[in-house]
Amino acid sequence: MELWDAIRNRRSCRKFSPQPVKEEDLQKIIEAGTWAPSPANNQPWEFVILTDQETKGQLHAACLKSKEEAFQKSGWRWLGKYEIDFLLEAPMIVAVVGDPAKTGVDQFSVDGRDGYKYACAAAIQNMLLMAHSLGLAGLWYTLLDQKAVKGLLNVPDDRTVCALVCLGKSGAEPLQTPRKPMDELTRRID
Ligand SMILES: Cc1cc2nc3c(=O)[nH]c(=O)nc-3n(C[C@H](O)[C@H](O)[C@H](O)COP(=O)(O)O)c2cc1C
Repeated sequence: MELWDAIRNRRSCRKFSPQPVKEEDLQKIIEAGTWAPSPANNQPWEFVILTDQETKGQLHAACLKSKEEAFQKSGWRWLGKYEIDFLLEAPMIVAVVGDPAKTGVDQFSVDGRDGYKYACAAAIQNMLLMAHSLGLAGLWYTLLDQKAVKGLLNVPDDRTVCALVCLGKSGAEPLQTPRKPMDELTRRID
């Protein structure tokens, strides 16, 4: 697949069909993640691969609670209606776990220490693009409670779960998500 095609046509998926993700596809997706740039090449990520239905059920329950809390705090109506059954339905969820100790020279700037998160974000995007190029769909999911999710996935306290990446075959047409015109987003200093 052309790079442009992958970038342009990847969409977030919130409805998955149950076919499992092939092991060889998973390997490519994770490897794509690991080729992302990172501060001083410190590769601050780990990938926790989840297919166990019972654990997915517990994750779903924990995330429902976070979603409800976010709804109460924000009052955003869409959050009240937003369903997260994809956490149960996606045949595979990969938690991308970042290590805050592995941030870069940004740690010496006043508002630094985010380098590891940027690197994990780059890894997640690589994973989503690779999944798309393999005919799979994905979702970058973050509405979670760190403590609860770390407990369920056996992630040490000093790490950050940067995202749950849901993966599988899409079970529905994706939402079309328009982009702002480029001239609203760019300015030049020539
Ligand atoms: C940092 C980040 C966090 C996100 N968290 C969520 C999330 O918790 N739940 C969700 O459904 N989508 C989440 N998304 C996906 C966005 O909603 C989605 O990318 C955006 O609406 C654009 O749609 P598209 O990916 O189909 O182009 C997240 C995306 C990013 C980059």
